[in-house]
Amino acid sequence: MQKMLNTLLALYVQGGDHVYAGESVTQLMHAWQCGRLAEKSGASSALQLASWLHDVGHLWANLEGTPTLRGQDDVHEHIGAQVLLPVFGLAVSEPVRLHVQAKRYLVGTRESYASKLSPDSVRSLRLQGGPLGPQESAAFEAKPFFADAVKLRVWDDLGKKPDWFEVTRQDALDHLMQLMHRVARDHVIQI
Ligand SMILES: [Fe+2]
Ligand SMILES: [Fe+2]
Repeated sequence: MQKMLNTLLALYVQGGDHVYAGESVTQLMHAWQCGRLAEKSGASSALQLASWLHDVGHLWANLEGTPTLRGQDDVHEHIGAQVLLPVFGLAVSEPVRLHVQAKRYLVGTRESYASKLSPDSVRSLRLQGGPLGPQESAAFEAKPFFADAVKLRVWDDLGKKPDWFEVTRQDALDHLMQLMHRVARDHVIQI
């Protein structure tokens, strides 16, 4: 388990300073902001960690530049969920896997939501299949981690502020490691 936590942390040590594709924050800032928003909202440790790591699939896949500009969907939500499931369980991997579908759901069900999306999110929305229709939305609402995925998605959209990073880089990474430990230990106790 420790080896996997080290691997995940290393992705942020090595790739955390990369600018989040098409946005004005780095991967580490975006991850930290989403985790912080979850923490401020009183989310469980698992959902805080899901918020922290929801885009880990981008770092894992490590595609060059801004894939959406080339018309490429990196399916990062599926890559991330696959990586996270064995270590942290469904409470982390499912909100991660569903965070793209949650965007499609919110665009389809909340009129004002689409206008708040960042340019990269608008580009990727098309590649990801566009807004969910009424039947798809109803099916999505029935999924066990639907509510967590929607919360994560809202923090995802808010966590792209170019000047919000209240901690040092090292403190952010230390916090991530502590949170990963806590959630992985809880997961091991449960199984
Ligand atoms: Fe994402
Ligand atoms: Fe994100």
